[in-house]
Amino acid sequence: MQETILSARRPSPGSPEGCREDDSKMRRTSLLLNRFATKLFGFRLENHSMAQLLATSLLLLVVVVGSLFVLSWRRREVCVASYDSLTRTSFFSSGVYGLASDFGSLGVPWCRSKQGKTVEWTTKDLLKGLEEFVPIYETRPIKNNIYGMGFDHSFGLWFMARWLKPDLMIESGAFKGHSTWVLRQAMPDKPIISLSPRHPEKYLKKGPAYVDGNCTYFAGKNFVDFGSVEWETVLQKHGISDISRVLVFFDDHQNELKRLKQALKAVSPSYI
Ligand SMILES: C[S@@+](CC[C@H](N)C(=O)[O-])C[C@H]1O[C@@H](n2cnc3c(N)ncnc32)[C@H](O)[C@@H]1O
Repeated sequence: MQETILSARRPSPGSPEGCREDDSKMRRTSLLLNRFATKLFGFRLENHSMAQLLATSLLLLVVVVGSLFVLSWRRREVCVASYDSLTRTSFFSSGVYGLASDFGSLGVPWCRSKQGKTVEWTTKDLLKGLEEFVPIYETRPIKNNIYGMGFDHSFGLWFMARWLKPDLMIESGAFKGHSTWVLRQAMPDKPIISLSPRHPEKYLKKGPAYVDGNCTYFAGKNFVDFGSVEWETVLQKHGISDISRVLVFFDDHQNELKRLKQALKAVSPSYI
């Protein structure tokens, strides 16, 4: 019963009634299009299939123009970083500038201070260092350093260590020891202090890792967090009297501001 009522209201698709209704709808649309075309183009579309074609084309045109409009409007809303693919591509045409991002170039930070001071090194120095570093990097013992440093940060660390020529290098966060190896390549004879909850030697059981012979490890059972080290005593043991001769490198998943405060406190205990 209900089915009869429903079918009376709307003939099922494909039924003769449905076809008839579709036909009359089509005729009405064609008639409208005919009127529209007559007004717009000054001629009459007698043929229905022609009217359908015109209707479809108009609809398609509206959809395409509409989509293009929405896409271009949305693009304007998206923030595009200055380090986009175009900038990266331009490396090949404009040298090292193409690898610059908001944070630095080739893994070496800009280090622009609020006072407008810039770093001492130039782009030329970076490129010269890069040429030297590429073959060194190829000899790295840990080829798969996923979750650790890749090429750019390795170069940055190596470059800065070489530039600053510290008497002592401290790293917090060693993982398998890649960064220890990088520091060693930069300064072959200077001591290193490495802090990491897991000793890099532990990784040797599973695959490549680096353990340095001239490094004091606060790692594994001897692990001490950077913020809890008695730095005065440790630095004295290493014969350090001038704190500006020490390079500290943090790559330890900790809050870097906290680390900087701890480092300042280590050299100036009155600092809170
Ligand atoms: C990103 S990885 C370091 C990668 C390493 N610098 C390299 O050669 O690529 C972070 C390391 O920090 C270590 N870590 C976590 N908490 C730490 C802490 N409080 N002090 C020092 N290292 C810590 C982790 O165990 C891990 O090995």
